[in-house]
Amino acid sequence: MKVLGIETSCDDTGVAIYDSMQGLLINELYNQKKIHVRYGGIVPELASREHAKKIIFLINKILKKINIKKEIDLIAYTAGPGLVGSLLVGSTLACSLGFSLDVPVLPINHMEAHLLSPMIENKSMKFPFIGLLVSGKHTQIIAAYKLGKYEILGNSLDDAAGEAFDKISKLLGLKYPNGRELSKLAMKGVESNLYFPRPMKNHPNLNFSFSGLKTFTSNIIKNNVLDIQQKANIAKAFEDAVVDILLIKTKKALFQKGWNNLVIAGGVSANKLLRKNASIMMKKIFNGDVFYASSHFCTDNGAMIAYLGSLYYKKSYISSLEILIKPKWSLEDVCKR
Ligand code: KG4
Ligand code: ZN
Repeated sequence: MKVLGIETSCDDTGVAIYDSMQGLLINELYNQKKIHVRYGGIVPELASREHAKKIIFLINKILKKINIKKEIDLIAYTAGPGLVGSLLVGSTLACSLGFSLDVPVLPINHMEAHLLSPMIENKSMKFPFIGLLVSGKHTQIIAAYKLGKYEILGNSLDDAAGEAFDKISKLLGLKYPNGRELSKLAMKGVESNLYFPRPMKNHPNLNFSFSGLKTFTSNIIKNNVLDIQQKANIAKAFEDAVVDILLIKTKKALFQKGWNNLVIAGGVSANKLLRKNASIMMKKIFNGDVFYASSHFCTDNGAMIAYLGSLYYKKSYISSLEILIKPKWSLEDVCKR
């Protein structure tokens, strides 16, 4: 059974084909970085126009490459959460293709696709688990009970972790897209007398707040003339603080549920310090495992959409043919399509 996956929730146009027997057959991504770089962030109108320009070309490319036409059994597309204009491009195309090929079409929740993306390469990952979902727009702790059943245990009250990474790296003069650049600079940083706050560390709940940390860091950057080593030290102190607070709350969630499986997913899960410290924590404290995807599956991609489509196909969960987008679709509502 073959699933065509289409991802257009933000600024990456992703298409892929996942085969339930053979695994991922092909995965192509067009990144719009060069369009948005001059604005220092994503411009939604430009993002949707670029998706519209590239998506048909990309689908043709993958179908030609693996030489298939009629063997697609399901078209899975990102229906939300995401930017309205961007989502509309992928959903309209998916539904038109489904209609013309007479193939079922399934709306996919982008965050659920991130959460389960480590399974593409690692089938030993099993439910239940605690998920730390860290992307450009979300910072959430999830109790994942089974496919389609999730409880949000914690959320960011303001900025997402990825957003904070992006803003601080912009202030440090690093190039867009930023999180990875900040992390690279942080590796050159050394321990200094800089200690950044861990917001909401002692709050009993599992929520996060990154705006105070962001303001604290930006004040240091704006009020000092910094050489490159000092910038690296700030990047390190900032990254240490973000990773620390993410794992402090994750640890609480694992204790709360009494589980010893952790999944870290979303763009920020590519962060090397986060991966390293999470692995140490899981081994030392929980005698358990941490799962994350290869870095090219951490950020947005079509493979995770196609893969999740294949899981739902097995459960015979197929939507009716209607164009559906849900720009604010919560993980707790994934079964309400
Ligand atoms: O999941 P994603 O591709 O898009 C959303 O769905 O939001 O995540 C993008 C976010 C950006 O904020 C980016 O700066 C961050 O992931 N990111 C990183 C790293 N790689 C990407 N943040 C920290 N360290 C990284 N290595
Ligand atoms: Zn994403």
